Amino acid sequence: MSFRRAVAALPVLLALALSACGGGGGDEVGVDDVRSETAGRPAADAARVAVSTLSPAAELGKLIFHDASLSASGQMSCATCHAPELGHASPFATPVAMGGARLDRPGVRTSPTLRYLRFSGAFDDAGGARPFGGFFWDGRAATLKAQARGPLLNPDEMANRNVADVVAKLAAASYAPRFREVFGADIMSDPQLAFRRMTLSLQRYQLEAPEFAPFTSKFDAVNAGRATFTPQEANGLALFNRADKGNCAQCHSSTKPANAPGALFTDFGYDNLGVPRNTEIAANADPEFFDRGLCGDTRTDLADRTDLCGSFKVPTLRNVALRKHFFHNGVFETLEQVIRFYARRDSHPEQFYPLDANGNPVVFNDLPRALRGNVTTQAPFGRTAAQGPALTHSEVADVAAFLRTLTDGYVP
Ligand code: HEC
Ligand code: HEC
Repeated sequence: MSFRRAVAALPVLLALALSACGGGGGDEVGVDDVRSETAGRPAADAARVAVSTLSPAAELGKLIFHDASLSASGQMSCATCHAPELGHASPFATPVAMGGARLDRPGVRTSPTLRYLRFSGAFDDAGGARPFGGFFWDGRAATLKAQARGPLLNPDEMANRNVADVVAKLAAASYAPRFREVFGADIMSDPQLAFRRMTLSLQRYQLEAPEFAPFTSKFDAVNAGRATFTPQEANGLALFNRADKGNCAQCHSSTKPANAPGALFTDFGYDNLGVPRNTEIAANADPEFFDRGLCGDTRTDLADRTDLCGSFKVPTLRNVALRKHFFHNGVFETLEQVIRFYARRDSHPEQFYPLDANGNPVVFNDLPRALRGNVTTQAPFGRTAAQGPALTHSEVADVAAFLRTLTDGYVP
């Protein structure tokens, strides 16, 4: 436990280091990018600073984030899958979004929340121990700038053919003149550079805009002495923290780190929870297809770390009550289902996994058989039928009530 805590402190330092140097990000970071940060602040912008706290790049990023004309379908922006009113997470009734030029291509993972990501550092494999940091469910992007390349070019998402295709759309956008003003009159004639400025702008928007890290939940109001928990919420928090009960805080840290105004409810680590296979995901119709998380296929550098197969990023639980689907494959649809899974996965596996011909549950069925031993058994998991669930039904309801206090926009 103390080891996990120590490791968890590292991304905090990394995030500080990043913001200290202007937050240009780790990928392709160079003079080039650093210069663009200052190039975006000519004297003429001094007046703007008074009305907006966003840098010129971040203001452009905000326009780009909401611009559906940048997709092959003309109908899909970043905000389509990361809905601002839902904690910048998926608004869809289905576990995965439909993207592509005709909006008919299903992805394989749920669209996560983009809130509070500014406090995450780059991916670090921790020298063979438990990795942390990075973006995407498998941490494959080192920075938000590197991440932003993905959706613009992903054939299941915004589906542009290549960088030049994206920049042609950018050059036709209403804010293209402003983009040229900030990044240089000739910027569009160098599509690679223009694309990098575009992803930089998306990064700056997410790093700077208050809406991505508002800290305005009831939980924050209680900590500030402006509200009080109901007895049920208070009990839920206690169960969330207790090592012999939910033990949730072990991974979803409930204490404030040094670099943030409040707790982030993630340690930025990766774990393998053995969540059940979701038959609603089209790719899962193929019994040979498995989403292995950290060890591939969407990243290839950790292919030989078979111990990491099936591990996915610990997401923040802030705004989690707004989600319609939970976990990387969206297999659960209510908070209570998720919490019951934690409390009963090993004591009552037949409630979560399909049964084989002999009536025995096929546990951890979203992993190839040979890798099922990777699944974590740490508390609240690892309980026998005789020991029973880690949480009773009413305790599950209490933890859910507590998680509902983590939604931003609380008005006391
Ligand atoms: C079709 C839906 C869709 C669109 C459009 C989309 N995303 Fe995403 N986004 C996802 C999914 C799905 C994931 C998780 C993918 C994975 O982990 O492999 C994700 C992951 C992310 C992450 C990583 C979050 C984390 O916890 O590490 C960021 C940041 C992000 N998207 C930003 C953007 C930006 C910026 C845009 C616009 C350029 C965008 N997204 C467009 C669906 C979408
Ligand atoms: C061993 C570390 C660990 C512990 C302990 C843990 N979690 Fe998680 N949690 C994770 C990981 C990793 C994921 C993502 C797993 C995936 O998608 O495959 C996750 C995902 C979730 C999600 C889904 C969030 C989303 O955006 O889809 C919820 C809700 C959640 N956890 C709540 C809890 C609660 C409540 C507890 C305590 C009962 C708990 N967790 C204990 C690691 C942990």
